[in-house]
Amino acid sequence: MGRLWIAIVLALAVGLKTQLTFSIVHEKSLIWDTSRQRSFYIPAMIMAVQGDPTEWVAQTRPEIKYIEAPHFNWEFRALGFDWDAKSIYWSEQKNKKIQALVLNGSTDTRTLFAGTSTEVSGIAVDWLSRNLYFTDTVYNWIMMTPSTPGRAGYRIVVQDGLDSPHGLAIYPQKGYLIWSDWGARPRIEVSDLEGQNRRIIVERDILKPMGVTIDYVHDRLYWVDSAKFTVEAVQLDGLGRQLIHKVEDITLTGIALYQDFIFLTERKLATLRVLDKKTPVKSYKLGRNPFDIMMYDGSQQAGNSSACELLGCEQMCIHDPVTGPKCICGEGYVPGDEESISCNCKIFVIRGAHNGWIGPIA
Ligand SMILES: *[C@@H]1O[C@H](CO)[C@@H](O)[C@H](O)[C@H]1NC(C)=O
Ligand SMILES: *[C@@H]1O[C@H](CO)[C@@H](O)[C@H](O)[C@H]1NC(C)=O
Repeated sequence: MGRLWIAIVLALAVGLKTQLTFSIVHEKSLIWDTSRQRSFYIPAMIMAVQGDPTEWVAQTRPEIKYIEAPHFNWEFRALGFDWDAKSIYWSEQKNKKIQALVLNGSTDTRTLFAGTSTEVSGIAVDWLSRNLYFTDTVYNWIMMTPSTPGRAGYRIVVQDGLDSPHGLAIYPQKGYLIWSDWGARPRIEVSDLEGQNRRIIVERDILKPMGVTIDYVHDRLYWVDSAKFTVEAVQLDGLGRQLIHKVEDITLTGIALYQDFIFLTERKLATLRVLDKKTPVKSYKLGRNPFDIMMYDGSQQAGNSSACELLGCEQMCIHDPVTGPKCICGEGYVPGDEESISCNCKIFVIRGAHNGWIGPIA
């Protein structure tokens, strides 16, 4: 009886919560998300260890900061960030949204996109063009939407042949968008920032590639395979593949890099794993199942974003390093001028079949 009352009071308290509560500040941090726990009325959380990993990895109990979901039924999934905008982004399964939070003490979230499926497994932010890309594992597409306030629109950038896309990474300085796909032919693919010029990076000996991330210093791609239980790396041209780590029968989902460290989230035993070139694997028990992980750090997002800012696009801007910056309009819009700086709603011309006899004068 007592336990039932406690559960009811807890449920009411959680149900009445309307605001995010958080203690994460804008500072170099390792950030991951964990699932809610139904039986204990613990909401989903985004968690962080703040500071330089070279200092905290040696500690047995690093201090954990968190962002707590405002509602008990929320479930965070994919994560992304923009260091200069001091913003983190996530996909949320219950309300099927992509949302943003500025790490400046404000608890207001901003919705970038509403109407995803429940399974958005990958987010990547182009910090130079200020766009957010996400993989939708159910709708089988990769969508793009502006990441900053004041710009609107969205666009499906990759759709052909996608079959359960999961992880997503971006290399704006080179104009690469990279994703992992489970499908009938599991693979890792790359395209330009508009989803064109696709090529396959890995398609041999790969089963269920989940998180992908880029080592921007050595130009290598790292990924976890949740069915092969491996961490692997490869050059961006598909050569020089390397098995970094193999574990037994656990479900790796996310991967993040910082200097010599590799951070992994693992769902089955609910652990955060740290690999290091110098020391053996370190494992932290999280108590709750994690999903995605990222290294929130300015050194991972180098470059100059002014080219797109100067164009003043109404909707989206894409700065491809080869073709230069340009404005584009989202789905359902047409350019309002030659440079697509403004965008107009598409006008649907209704041409009834009975009007078929009105033809051009030959
Ligand atoms: C935090 O950032 C948001 C969005 O840019 C802004 O509206 C708000 O005023 C800022 N809050 C503080 C406390 O600086
Ligand atoms: C970025 O590029 C613009 C134009 O090329 C330049 O004026 C500006 O100083 C640059 N900013 C930084 C931080 O390098």
